[in-house]
Amino acid sequence: MKTLDDTQLAAFDVEFVDDRLWPLVAARIDSDFPAGDFRFLDVGGGAGRFADQLLERYPRASGTVLDSSERLLASNRPHDRKTLVNDSVERLAELFAPGQFDLICFNWLLHHLVFSSWSGSQRAMVDALEAARGLLSDRGRISLFENMYDGLLIDGLPGLLIFTLTSSRLLRPLLRGMGANTAGVGVCFQSHRQWERLLARAGCAIGHYSNDVTWTLPWHWRVLLHMGYVRVGHFWCHRD
Ligand SMILES: C[S@@+](CC[C@H](N)C(=O)[O-])C[C@H]1O[C@@H](n2cnc3c(N)ncnc32)[C@H](O)[C@@H]1O
Repeated sequence: MKTLDDTQLAAFDVEFVDDRLWPLVAARIDSDFPAGDFRFLDVGGGAGRFADQLLERYPRASGTVLDSSERLLASNRPHDRKTLVNDSVERLAELFAPGQFDLICFNWLLHHLVFSSWSGSQRAMVDALEAARGLLSDRGRISLFENMYDGLLIDGLPGLLIFTLTSSRLLRPLLRGMGANTAGVGVCFQSHRQWERLLARAGCAIGHYSNDVTWTLPWHWRVLLHMGYVRVGHFWCHRD
């Protein structure tokens, strides 16, 4: 698997689940865990800001933040109900026991599981979701925030174009200069329909889906990358 370096990871020392996105996941938690007593795993949870929000808003919850970046994990705020694990998502099944978690969150992690081929990267996402599914308790849920890159006419084309461009080592200096943080490593964005298919392949049934607002993007990016409807989406899943 290809990995980002520390300078690239520094861009992720922020909280992506802001006041606008928080209600999408909170509504699902409140509905399925009304007593607020759940054990969660935040996969690729980085600096732990999302875990901190969960712990603050649900005083009966406890959680684990798993991240492969030692640097991001080190910037976590200590909390007596929070455990930090510095490891890779590829080792989920070895690190944790079946049934150990009620809620497993993937907030913008899966598109970073990049291999040299597009299909190998998709396989890695399915493997990660399958492994997470095996760790769920009977009432377990998987929460997935991701960017949805639907093509203008050809559904999965923007993700494939972005993957091809950002994976290229040759184009790395040019793309870094244009602000593409993952240039030289790659990023594997999917369309909404592709996410649905990957979840189904992993044996995850979608209980609920919500869209955030549509992104406004410069027209030249839209044209060059064949972008249609692009936004953040949230999937709330259970075992099939
Ligand atoms: C875009 S950031 C998202 C961070 C956080 N989930 C959030 O929403 O603010 C992606 C995170 O995934 C982590 N990551 C990337 N590859 C990983 C892997 N193989 N195993 C575990 N974490 C990984 C990165 O270190 C980073 O913290």
